[in-house]
Amino acid sequence: MPKKTNPFFSTDILSLEQFSSSDLLLLFGKADKIRKVVEKKGYIDLLKGKLATLLFYEPSSRTFSSFAAAVKRLGGQVIEYQNPTQTSSAVKGETISDSTKVFETYSDVIIMRHPLEGTARIAAEAATRVPVINAGDGSGEHPTQAFLDLYTMYRQHKSLNGLKIILVGDLLYGRTVHSLLKGLALFKNVTVYLLSPKNLKMPDHVKAYAAKRGVKIVEISSQKEIPEGCHVWYWTRVQKERFRSLKEYEKVKLAYVLTKTLVDEKAGKKTILMHPLPRVGEITLDVDSDPRALYLTEQIKNGMYVRMALLALVLLKNG
Ligand code: NCD
Repeated sequence: MPKKTNPFFSTDILSLEQFSSSDLLLLFGKADKIRKVVEKKGYIDLLKGKLATLLFYEPSSRTFSSFAAAVKRLGGQVIEYQNPTQTSSAVKGETISDSTKVFETYSDVIIMRHPLEGTARIAAEAATRVPVINAGDGSGEHPTQAFLDLYTMYRQHKSLNGLKIILVGDLLYGRTVHSLLKGLALFKNVTVYLLSPKNLKMPDHVKAYAAKRGVKIVEISSQKEIPEGCHVWYWTRVQKERFRSLKEYEKVKLAYVLTKTLVDEKAGKKTILMHPLPRVGEITLDVDSDPRALYLTEQIKNGMYVRMALLALVLLKNG
């Protein structure tokens, strides 16, 4: 298959800006196929003999373990580094470029999370033989989270065109919403409502990127203004670790809380409730049992399948 038909093959996955709507639909189709087999058998040996390095310089539960699970259920193996700043040569002052060059000699793909925006790109430039997947770079992007979020919306609503979505919380430092908004911009007739504390607004460059591609963006400032009938409510945590002052964080951390009352008041029958997790109080526990709440169920499951699909497409020419 020529490269054209598999746009992911041997490609660094750094930003949602790299992809088209048909690329994403190809990814979702692959995830559906893999899911069918894995739900029956538990595994699909597409990556037998392949090795992935997970280099996570910042805490992670889901992204780290869903990538590890994805590689293993594909029959591949992993070198797992959580906390390299304490356990690898990074302690001795090794640069990202040098570490990347070392790990690319051992493995077929490097999956990296780092607290500094732009680090995945630095690693991708250093790696000349294997692709690098950005698993979250500071307040920059989190492309694989956007893939799983969009896949979740796609499975629920059957299309990403015509969606009306609200993004809530820390839209400034939250990398998931940056990638998500760029991804939504690939589809037609999308309206995105943004609700965040004044000092945590979506960066202008991300808004401009989406608006230029036809997304209708509406900034609102209170939960009262949430319009009825949104297809998706996407809540996020205020990113404590990006604040210089704890006092500033405390002031805004629970500015917007998703409660059962709010769901009953404003959500439609088909509204899905999403969150990239971890949640730290911004969704009350009584929302969890609502069938529209997908953050602890479908969204997680979709994360593994979409990452399996991505790894297969990145590592195998024929997907
Ligand atoms: C997110 C992240 O790391 O950006 N978590 C995740 O990957 N599921 C969201 C967050 O930490 O708030």
